[in-house]
Amino acid sequence: MDPIPVILDTDGGVDDCAALWFGLTSPAIEIVAITCVAGNVNAAQAARNVAKVLKAAGRSDIPFSIGADQPLGPGPAIPGDLPVHGSDGLGDAGIPDAALDPTTEPAIELILRLVDARPGELTLVAVGPFTNVALALRSEPSLAGRVRDLVVMGGAAQMPGNVTATSEFNVAKDPTAAAETVAASWPRPPTMVGLDATHQATMGARELDLVAERRTPAAAFMADPLRTYHRIQSMVSEDGTVPCHDALALMAVAHPELLITEVLPVNVDTGGGAAWGMTVVDFRARSLASGSIPADLLGLAQEAFFAGKHPWRVALGADVDGFRARLNELFGR
Ligand code: BDR
Ligand code: CA
Repeated sequence: MDPIPVILDTDGGVDDCAALWFGLTSPAIEIVAITCVAGNVNAAQAARNVAKVLKAAGRSDIPFSIGADQPLGPGPAIPGDLPVHGSDGLGDAGIPDAALDPTTEPAIELILRLVDARPGELTLVAVGPFTNVALALRSEPSLAGRVRDLVVMGGAAQMPGNVTATSEFNVAKDPTAAAETVAASWPRPPTMVGLDATHQATMGARELDLVAERRTPAAAFMADPLRTYHRIQSMVSEDGTVPCHDALALMAVAHPELLITEVLPVNVDTGGGAAWGMTVVDFRARSLASGSIPADLLGLAQEAFFAGKHPWRVALGADVDGFRARLNELFGR
């Protein structure tokens, strides 16, 4: 099978870089371009981290570009934001800068140009705040109909948030962008890989030990950043395992069987209250799929559950063994 061509939009953190390594080494994925957005670090630093990965992977040919540095709107305060990615996004591991420059073409223009050149072919995978995606949609709303698919890491359906009681980081950082992305006219439901899935398919002690053995270029690069990431994440992990959110999202493009999904109505709370930045998933719509609603009431039920919301393929769980098997391939076993 031909590899799936992907534009990866990233905020340059540790799990972002693990995802990128997966994309660069998996025969099932072709990374066509990378666009950077502020989130874990600013967009320029995210681009520096991408450059380091591309150089180490011997893929200096892949264009990468700097995008939005400011969210489109306000978001909830994030008290006690844990420095999971260190101050440089890569765990302050001292990985030297690569002599590799981002394109002079801004990220939004790069996305639009590439999608124009290959209509219906490219999968957009966003693993940072959705600011670049929303800006591209503002500039060209028809983008939604011209990508093959959209997969995002973000949100939480049945889980609490990870930066506020209700909000996941990528959504909390720019709820306006998330709301606009959720509401765009996607012809097929995009996939939301949120905390419900990423907290199931975690890295365990064996994966972390394997990375430390540095058997592959990906492991050699990720060993130190993942050590910091794991150390800080262990403050909030109940069992010592650690999510590698963004890697799961990109892996699921190549291996959709890793996710357990349902198409459900979604919207994003942009209201400034206690649930600011929450992805609100309407589980009442499950009765539509169950076949329990009389045919003459289906239209009414559809209206009741979906009005003002948008059908997304929501990941509600993940195959932890499958995820770890793929990670182990990446890291050398
Ligand atoms: C998301 O937030 C970032 O810190 C990670 O890179 C991931 O994209 C998880 O909530
Ligand atoms: Ca990220």
